[in-house]
Amino acid sequence: MQQLDLPDRIITHFDQALRTLFGHARGSGRKNPGANHPHPDLSAGEARHAAGLMRVNHAGEVAAQALYEGGGLTAHQPAVRQLMQQAAREEGDHLIWCRQRLRQLDSHTSYLDPLWYAGSLAIGSIAGAAGDRWSLGFVVETEHQVMAHLDSHLQRLPRKDRGSHAILRQMREDESRHATAAHHAGGAKLPWPVRKTMHLVSRIMTGTAYWL
Ligand SMILES: [Fe+2]
Ligand SMILES: [Fe+2]
Repeated sequence: MQQLDLPDRIITHFDQALRTLFGHARGSGRKNPGANHPHPDLSAGEARHAAGLMRVNHAGEVAAQALYEGGGLTAHQPAVRQLMQQAAREEGDHLIWCRQRLRQLDSHTSYLDPLWYAGSLAIGSIAGAAGDRWSLGFVVETEHQVMAHLDSHLQRLPRKDRGSHAILRQMREDESRHATAAHHAGGAKLPWPVRKTMHLVSRIMTGTAYWL
C-alpha cells in the first residue's frame, strides 16, 4: 500500500469520517449475512427492541471505525497503520450491515453518532501517538468489550429476527480476528483504570444509543 504523508492522511481521514457519519461507509464488499432473512415477522414491540439493539451495535461500529481511523492516523510503524486501515475497512462492512438492518426494521441510526465518532477518534489518535503497543492494546480491549456486547445482544434479540442474528454472528467472528491480530502485532494489556473507564464510556454509549 502506498504510504501517505500526514496532510494526505488527514484528508483521506476526513473523507472517511463523512462517509461513516452519512451512511456511505466503504466496506470490503462482503455480502450482508442477514440478506437472506430480510423481513422477520415481529410484533411492534419486538421490532422496536431489535432496532434499539441494532442501533447500539451501529453506534459501536461508528466508534470502532473512529478508533481505528485515529490509530491509523498517528501510528508509528507502517505495518501497524496498515493493520488499522484493514480492520477499519472490515468495520465498514459492519456499519453497512447494521444500517441496512435498521432500515429494514423501519428505524434510524443514533442521533449521537457524531459524538461517538469524535470521542473515539480523539482516544484512538492519543493512543496511537502514545505508541503502537498502546494503540494495539486499545484495539484488543475494544474488540473484547464489543464481543461481550455481541454475546449479550445475541441472547436478547427476538429469536425470530434471524437477519440480525446472522449479522451479529459474523461481526463477532470478525471482531475476534481483529483482537487476535492486534494482540499478535504486540498490543499491550491496558492498565486497569483505563479498561474500567472504557467500560464506563461504553455503558453510557450503549445506554443512550438504544433510545436515541
Ligand atoms: Fe465491528
Ligand atoms: Fe473489529
